[in-house]
Amino acid sequence: MNAQALLTQLYDTPEIDILEQIKQLKAELGDQVLILGHHYQREEVFVFADVSGDSLKLSQQAAETSAPYIIFCGVHFMAETADILTADDQAVILPDLAAGCSMADMADDEQVTRCWRELSSVISPDTTVTPVTYINSTAALKAFCGEHGGIVCTSGNARKVMQWSWNNREKILFFPDQHLGENTAVAMGVPDEDMIVWDPALPLGGQAPEAIEQARLILWKGFCSVHQLFKPEHADTMRRNHPGIHILAHPECSRAVCETADFVGSTEMIIKRVLEAEKGQSFAIATELNLVNRLRIRFPDHPIWFLSPMVCMCSTMFRTDPQQLCAALTAIRDGIRGNGDNLSIHNRISVPQSHKRWARLALERMLNLA
Ligand code: 13P
Ligand code: SF4
Repeated sequence: MNAQALLTQLYDTPEIDILEQIKQLKAELGDQVLILGHHYQREEVFVFADVSGDSLKLSQQAAETSAPYIIFCGVHFMAETADILTADDQAVILPDLAAGCSMADMADDEQVTRCWRELSSVISPDTTVTPVTYINSTAALKAFCGEHGGIVCTSGNARKVMQWSWNNREKILFFPDQHLGENTAVAMGVPDEDMIVWDPALPLGGQAPEAIEQARLILWKGFCSVHQLFKPEHADTMRRNHPGIHILAHPECSRAVCETADFVGSTEMIIKRVLEAEKGQSFAIATELNLVNRLRIRFPDHPIWFLSPMVCMCSTMFRTDPQQLCAALTAIRDGIRGNGDNLSIHNRISVPQSHKRWARLALERMLNLA
């Protein structure tokens, strides 16, 4: 049966049976398959993750595993990262190939190469600028960083990475998330006059040559469509309605939200903060809905609120459902049994070798800082 026919059949099967099939397939495949699950995955998928975590933890895990098959319940850039960090005979599978990231799409190879060329009309980027890409980016951009003395960061280690970068060269070009770069720099005490925002739609990023010469941090004009929905007014309302509440925010939120928050950190850091809090401490959390809902269930001793009155959910993370996970596991099982019509490499993510080498270097520079 081909992959599409299998999925059609699974969508006609009651979900309870799908969950049972996943359990059985996992038991049958044992350590041949490692399922990685990001915190933003929906619960029905998340429960099957062998390892769950934020982007940093999951990339570390991918670098360490020897499992021949890795199913990444997350989005495309995460599966690419896992493929870069694993050996060529390990297959990384993304259950739904349309699970992308709108932020990662806000900077492409051509735009960043043009930016680098334009910077060179004002300064010498290869000696003065460290390109830093947020892990939420294409493999091509990670390769660009590797090739130009740069590095990757996640929301869990951005400060350490920026410090490393400024130790090496005087300026940073940070893409694609303006907010992570800006919030990290503000927390490090970098003054506003040292930062500029590069708009890739405008010549010279919309900046005067003197501003580029002066800047220590050039921030790409990109953002997360989910985290931009949180507003500082939401924090004001929460504090008015729930005195003593702690506001926790992800650094992809705007600077105004992060400046009003009691704590800013990656998804893993937010979880740790709740885990270590005194009993009864209430929280309002500004990050993706699936994670916040899970925290509510996991920590009944802490009243937990979602910071925004709107639904801030990552629709591409939500694409991965139990049917696709079941299809991915079935394809691996059938491939191993030799009756899979090549289904075993169904939805395999393969980063071209030309990008792999440099992208791995940029990722290893990051992992070595940990
Ligand atoms: P972390 O996994 O680093 O917390 O980032 C959240 C995110 O937006 C993943 O895409
Ligand atoms: Fe991308 Fe935002 Fe979704 Fe993370 S939450 S995958 S940054 S769109």
